Amino acid sequence: MSKVSLGLQGRVAIITGAARGIGRAALDRMIEEGVHVLAWDIDPAWAEEIKTIATPDTVKINAFIGDVSQSEAWQEAVKSALAQFGRLDFLFSNAGISGPALPVSRYEDADFDRVMAINARGVYLGLKHAGRHLSQQGRGVIVNVSSISGLSGGGNIFAYTASKHAVVGMTKSAAVHYAASGVRVLAVCPSPTDTEMMAYAERSVMPGDPQAARPIFTQGVPMGRYAEPEEIANVFAFLISDQASFMTGTIVPVDGGTMAR
Ligand SMILES: NC(=O)c1ccc[n+]([C@@H]2O[C@H](COP(=O)([O-])OP(=O)(O)OC[C@H]3O[C@@H](n4cnc5c(N)ncnc54)[C@H](O)[C@@H]3O)[C@@H](O)[C@H]2O)c1
Repeated sequence: MSKVSLGLQGRVAIITGAARGIGRAALDRMIEEGVHVLAWDIDPAWAEEIKTIATPDTVKINAFIGDVSQSEAWQEAVKSALAQFGRLDFLFSNAGISGPALPVSRYEDADFDRVMAINARGVYLGLKHAGRHLSQQGRGVIVNVSSISGLSGGGNIFAYTASKHAVVGMTKSAAVHYAASGVRVLAVCPSPTDTEMMAYAERSVMPGDPQAARPIFTQGVPMGRYAEPEEIANVFAFLISDQASFMTGTIVPVDGGTMAR
């Protein structure tokens, strides 16, 4: 797929959940755009793995290991980005987990707390800590990752659905709060995307033949397929660019028509 260059060279982004899936696609897209990245993941192996990624001389990417549900980690991440790159322009709050595929009546309290801590509290902390810095400097963009599960029910991934609805609400609230200070805040809502998160969902539904589970997840998608992680990363790149300069508080489905049905 040919890509339009968006004039982002020399800017600095924090990407959470950057080691794989959508976050990794966003990291690759930022490298192509000439954006320096603090690439945050909870997986300790990421600190070594990131060294194998080729970058042009003009682009620096550094690993940050931490848990997005922890306030101290966010303070440290913002400090590190500023110390290592001298500026901060963008945040892609992407780290997330699916949690058990269960309805509310069968949900365990501890699982609910864990999903909400990573998916909702993690996004809140990013909006607070990175948002504060961006608003003080008077410019910046935050893109949060929600889901089509942030726009509709579904019944069977209870905490995930709750957390992704929370991301939508927090995005709108923070967008209004930060608008006057020059900071834009948006969310993307992907439909099923071809990453480890969906591979896990497929294995859970059909342990013997995970590939055969795909039609279950694509039947509600008018375009009839999973999204590629790059298709979400491309929308992130557009939203942080000046091409989207009058967009804030916008919740953007990237879903092959799913929410249009
Ligand atoms: N894959 C999909 O079908 C889909 C659809 C809609 C929305 N999403 C959302 O997109 C985002 C990325 O999903 P993905 O499919 O790439 O998932 P993934 O499981 O492939 O990757 C998630 C990454 O986040 C990291 N991570 C998990 N918990 C963390 C924590 N506490 N702190 C820091 N990093 C942490 C993981 O180590 C991993 O590298 C998530 O928020 C997810 O809910 C995914």
